[in-house]
Amino acid sequence: MQLTDFEKSMLDGAQGDAKARAMDLLLRYGEALGAERLVETRNVAGAFNASTPSVRHMVGDGDEEGFDRVFSGLNLDSDDVVDIPRMTVPTCQLITGIDMENHETQGVDPALAELQGKSERYLGKRGVNMMCTCTPYQVGNVPLQGEHCAWMESSAVIYCNSVLGARTNVEGKESTGAAGLTGRIPYWGLHMPENRNANRLIRLDVEVDDMSEWGVLGYFTGFEVEEDQPAFDGLTHQPDLMKLKHFGAAAASSGGVELYHMPGITPEAPTLEAAFAGAALPAPIIYGAKERKRTWERLQNATDRKLDFVMLGCPHNSIEQMSRVAELLEGRRIHPDTALWVHTPRAIRQVADRSGYTEVIERAGGVVMSDTCPSISRKLPKGVRVIATDSAKQAHYLPAITKVQGWFGSVEQCVESAVAGEWLGVVR
Ligand code: F3S
Repeated sequence: MQLTDFEKSMLDGAQGDAKARAMDLLLRYGEALGAERLVETRNVAGAFNASTPSVRHMVGDGDEEGFDRVFSGLNLDSDDVVDIPRMTVPTCQLITGIDMENHETQGVDPALAELQGKSERYLGKRGVNMMCTCTPYQVGNVPLQGEHCAWMESSAVIYCNSVLGARTNVEGKESTGAAGLTGRIPYWGLHMPENRNANRLIRLDVEVDDMSEWGVLGYFTGFEVEEDQPAFDGLTHQPDLMKLKHFGAAAASSGGVELYHMPGITPEAPTLEAAFAGAALPAPIIYGAKERKRTWERLQNATDRKLDFVMLGCPHNSIEQMSRVAELLEGRRIHPDTALWVHTPRAIRQVADRSGYTEVIERAGGVVMSDTCPSISRKLPKGVRVIATDSAKQAHYLPAITKVQGWFGSVEQCVESAVAGEWLGVVR
């Protein structure tokens, strides 16, 4: 790979051991990908916290050296422990496994929660912004069109590329650690304009309106196009942040979609023709009532209707979604045999607290969680066998990860079912 003089000086150690290790990692990574150079980034979203059970042994007593050991080993792929300095460019922590206010409800080992607190302080001292959410774009990290980013988390990546028009591949713990320290990432894949055009076409023959419909369309899309880049024709309703968030998360779950083009929404696709950069349109994949019903059925992984747990907020809820859940629960009570956890970024939780939404949800018997989700933490209320969720992504992963039965439906169906203690949803 071609390096600039500045990059060579980092590699040679002129700016310290940590940046030299980071450059070494980026060089190996870029060469494996066939990249010819690096590109500057000023926006990194990764995973740096050191409080998962699997890395606990590396931290030791929880002193700075222990956390340096974790960062060196897991974020820089270095066998030697190096002092980790402050990040060079704005860098944020994505979702973690522990809600620092609700870890007892989660059933997390208190020692692990204490370690999480220490890990957060260690990272904060190094300039890592502790957003602790899979939706950094909801809480202030909103890159501009064309900006080169280094983001992890498939639902965040697809939103970043397709809605914001910024540019990122799906990065990992190692490359985001190295990018935070150097402000560089390999220039390949979706950083290159020529790789960003649509190559599949999906034509909608049915209305796609509410949030669950967008999740179902996303789930269909991922199965159909796998890792390709679809463009859409026939949208009847203008989606909003919440719907696009659910759509993208689902498309990146059933498939590996990292970029889609919705004319008039994706900044690079003012028209369908622009999405394909003037190339002939491929034969369309049709999404009609039959496909919608089949996909909706595919998301039902349960037979028992007695409901133990309802999970809302995957990807993490916006304030509008928190408001809606509170509205649905006002003056009501969740069934005593059913738990309800609602997930939202901590920054949005504060707004929910001040707006009275948290109080309404808690009075009804629900819990508002931040910083985490059950698929990441692998923590569910004790004895859960049957869950329901308004997220196609969570319906895809949670039964697979935790071996529970899972229902999928709209937020209204989920809340009504939580109150009834049984699944009341119907396939559309
Ligand atoms: Fe976020 Fe967890 Fe869903 S990371 S996208 S809430 S599976």
